[in-house]
Amino acid sequence: MSNSQIQIFDTTLRDGEQVPGCKLNTNQKLIIAKQLDLLGVDIIEAGFPVSSPGDFKSVEEISKIVKNATVCGLTRSVKNDIKVAAEALKYAKKPRIHTGIGTSDSHIKYKFKSNREDILLRAFEAVKYAKSFVEDVEFYAEDAGRTDNEYLARVCEMAIKAGATVLNIPDTTGYCLPSEYGAKIKYLKENVKGIEKAILSCHCHNDLGLATANSIEGVINGARQIECTINGIGERAGNTALEEVVMILKQHPYLNLDTNINTKHLYAISQLVSESMGIYTQPNKAIVGANAFAHSSGIHQDGVIKNRETYEIMNPKDVGVTDSAIVLTARSGRAALAYRAKNVGYELTKLQLDDVYANFLNFADRKKEINDNDIHEIIETSRVYQ
Ligand code: KIV
Ligand code: ZN
Repeated sequence: MSNSQIQIFDTTLRDGEQVPGCKLNTNQKLIIAKQLDLLGVDIIEAGFPVSSPGDFKSVEEISKIVKNATVCGLTRSVKNDIKVAAEALKYAKKPRIHTGIGTSDSHIKYKFKSNREDILLRAFEAVKYAKSFVEDVEFYAEDAGRTDNEYLARVCEMAIKAGATVLNIPDTTGYCLPSEYGAKIKYLKENVKGIEKAILSCHCHNDLGLATANSIEGVINGARQIECTINGIGERAGNTALEEVVMILKQHPYLNLDTNINTKHLYAISQLVSESMGIYTQPNKAIVGANAFAHSSGIHQDGVIKNRETYEIMNPKDVGVTDSAIVLTARSGRAALAYRAKNVGYELTKLQLDDVYANFLNFADRKKEINDNDIHEIIETSRVYQ
């Protein structure tokens, strides 16, 4: 793997599926896993096998059908979790066990009623045990975002000693600022003994709307894997959105960070996940929202009709959206009306356009958005056309 390559670890089927009320059945998960594999993700986190017989079955079935990606199962630092995950992954061409433990003071004190030294030992033992089943073991330090860096570095060293080759640094509560998260990754890169044997992974939550920014800061500072979900779905305010980090890296080539994602599939998989989970995607969602490439104000429309680049920083076709949309509202100008009229078969002269435009404004004040049928009616009922 070249140093500019960022591994995309998709956790739509595990962390993403933790959205309240969004249970996917095995068949739906298989369809999504197939599309994730086609999209080009490097790792599919298929589930948490010990959590239920249904999850076990999904991980097992996904392991059978995925052709290219690594298939990963989550565990706690508990022997039985790890054994069950290994069993569920037994058909995977490239299996990975993702094990870990909470490392922040509040997790250690309240969740585990334990102490730092004991957590170090448990981390070591979990990775060691996972290594007895599979070569590829990823370790997560849950709540790393609120874990002090010195202790976090010791935890990472333990995991590496036990054989982990990926160290996941989750901002579990979505608390970090991008500068803090980036500095944390830099600190670990510079201070963890044996770090050359492992890669660091960003796993950011979106409680303050910073998951994408934090993940990008993470890779700028040396992480080489991003954990993310389609449409950013996940617990509470969700996870880092896959489509966002992938397009940020693509649209900023000077960062010299690439992914294996075929971006032309992004829109279709966004729709698939949204429909399967019954989670509506907000219209202004970056990259895949219904309005991501829609222009409705006159000034913007005039610019985009003259040249798309005036108001678009990426080509909609690159993410699988057929074209930019020129939406006609009362804020639209003559250029947009002429453009849409031409699309439905009317070449208007300047004089005709003035007249039709006056009629259009009356319509648009009454109706929020003008569709193709309305355009016919507006034109046919305009004075110059009678
Ligand atoms: O957010 C988190 O800390 C997690 C871990 C279990 C990886 O999802
Ligand atoms: Zn998470």
